[in-house]
Amino acid sequence: MITIRDSTEKDLSKLMLLERECFDDPWTIEMMKGEFSRVGFCGVLAELDGEVVGYACGFSLFEDSELLKIAVRDEVRGRGIGGLILDGLTERAMALGAQRMFLEVRASNGSAIRLYASRNFAKTRIRKRYYADGEDALEMKRDFYLES
Ligand SMILES: CC(C)(COP(=O)(O)OP(=O)(O)OC[C@H]1O[C@@H](n2cnc3c(N)ncnc32)[C@H](O)[C@@H]1OP(=O)(O)O)[C@@H](O)C(=O)NCCC(=O)NCCS
Repeated sequence: MITIRDSTEKDLSKLMLLERECFDDPWTIEMMKGEFSRVGFCGVLAELDGEVVGYACGFSLFEDSELLKIAVRDEVRGRGIGGLILDGLTERAMALGAQRMFLEVRASNGSAIRLYASRNFAKTRIRKRYYADGEDALEMKRDFYLES
């Protein structure tokens, strides 16, 4: 059974394991702690039969919110868990008053771009050479107020 819940600092060690597994350039624990203490922080995680298999974090400040990270363990990708996590994060941002959510994604990250598009995120611009390795980022935005 999949459960989506808020993440807390008590989950940090499990989130760091996932972070290192899912990203070539993982955040350090200090970066992760910094995000948890940020004003407007939102974090959710997915548990599959009690085991943490995915998470997302971002922040929501007044009308704007941003998705900073989303990741799902490789073995359980493609089963809709990323979508459930993203839905959990957007629900929390909306509850805090956000009217829209922004994100940046590597131009080559097809799975993530398809997932975002399935949740009404639209491409807004390209940020040339946004990443340290020179890859472009796509900026995407979802307007919540257009959906109600
Ligand atoms: C991006 C990521 C989180 C997606 O997790 P996931 O659990 O596989 O996501 P889902 O199963 O919900 O969606 C996966 C696929 O179903 C598609 N999908 C999901 N819901 C959909 C819907 N309602 N309609 C159409 N397509 C849908 C997605 O577009 C995606 O397409 P793909 O099979 O071609 O990859 C995962 O691939 C991952 O952890 N990647 C590594 C980390 C990363 O790159 N994160 C993003 C940048 S921070």
